[in-house]
Amino acid sequence: MNVTKVCVIGAGRVGKLHSGNLRRYIPSGEAAALVDTVPETLTQTGNEYGIESRYTSLDEALDKIEFEGVVITTPTPTHMQLAVMAAEHGKHVFLEKPMAMNLEECDTIIEACEKNSVHLQLGFMRHFDPDFVLAYERVHAGEIGEPMMVKSLTHGPGLPPPWARDLKTSNGNLAEVNSHDLDATRWFMDSNPARIYVEVSNFKGAERGVESENFYDTMMVNLKFESGGVGSISGVCPCDYGYDARMEIIGKKGIMMVGELEGNALTVGIDRDTGLVTPIFSRWPDRFFLAYIHEIEHFIESIQNDTQPKVSGQDGRWAVAGVLAGTKSFLEERPVLLTEVMQE
Ligand SMILES: NC(=O)c1ccc[n+]([C@@H]2O[C@H](COP(=O)([O-])OP(=O)(O)OC[C@H]3O[C@@H](n4cnc5c(N)ncnc54)[C@H](O)[C@@H]3O)[C@@H](O)[C@H]2O)c1
Repeated sequence: MNVTKVCVIGAGRVGKLHSGNLRRYIPSGEAAALVDTVPETLTQTGNEYGIESRYTSLDEALDKIEFEGVVITTPTPTHMQLAVMAAEHGKHVFLEKPMAMNLEECDTIIEACEKNSVHLQLGFMRHFDPDFVLAYERVHAGEIGEPMMVKSLTHGPGLPPPWARDLKTSNGNLAEVNSHDLDATRWFMDSNPARIYVEVSNFKGAERGVESENFYDTMMVNLKFESGGVGSISGVCPCDYGYDARMEIIGKKGIMMVGELEGNALTVGIDRDTGLVTPIFSRWPDRFFLAYIHEIEHFIESIQNDTQPKVSGQDGRWAVAGVLAGTKSFLEERPVLLTEVMQE
């Protein structure tokens, strides 16, 4: 079997997830090298997943070992520099969401990948989740008629790492947690968002020791799409009843829901062990277990077969535009046209 070697950059939560999936479930790919700026993290994750070639910078890895692609799982402000460096060395790029801090950085990444003829795939794993994929196919086969409205929610259990709680280093939860919904609603509606209105609140930050300016843990988004369709996104993080990612699509003829709901008149969820949805997911790696495997497998296939990955730089860029317009919306307390941030 043709085995494609990749270098995993970032040995934190998601670096571990992808390294583990490559090792256990993706025989056509190999995490041949691991990069992390923190030596202890490098050693711990390297030992855990049997990755012997470990480096504290991408520079060093590029110098010392052969590989065809990179899987970038570092904090958002580092994405552009690492993706561009990898592309300039002819390496295919799998890049975790959110793509970058702003649209200029997104464009720089897209241009570098195009110029160096390497593939760029974004880590929006819902495109590889069996339930979401089936729902998309059935909606687009016309089963519920033309989509008029989409409602998406992601409620994430734990506080993200410190860098991801700060608007300045991550663009906050809208980017860190709910850019998946910005992407998935655009994907299902087959239309770009035109206007966004966001309200946010901070209920738990103080009691969890979060002092970052403008931190929010609760968020509601209203969207208007270019197609005329409307949408909403709800975000809660940290969410104490576990991990909850669902979607509802309302078409001219009917409704389709991704994620099960029990038929009770009243459903209450306050406990992460009991959960709310069936089966119970207390962590995001469990809910999207197959999707995380399929997305890296897809990246490896796109390298081996020289085909374009199905989640593109433009998909990443649109989600960042939604994050920027949404952040502007809650800071300025008004609906924001996407064209306002696209022109900046
Ligand atoms: N797809 C998903 O469902 C999902 C879920 C969580 C996080 N993410 C994304 O994955 C990325 C990483 O998140 P995380 O939760 O794993 O973060 P993390 O803080 O747990 O891990 C990041 C790691 O990157 C290392 N690092 C920082 N700068 C580096 C550099 N320049 N070069 C090499 N290593 C560097 C850090 O030392 C750390 O070990 C972020 O973009 C985040 O938004 C995606």
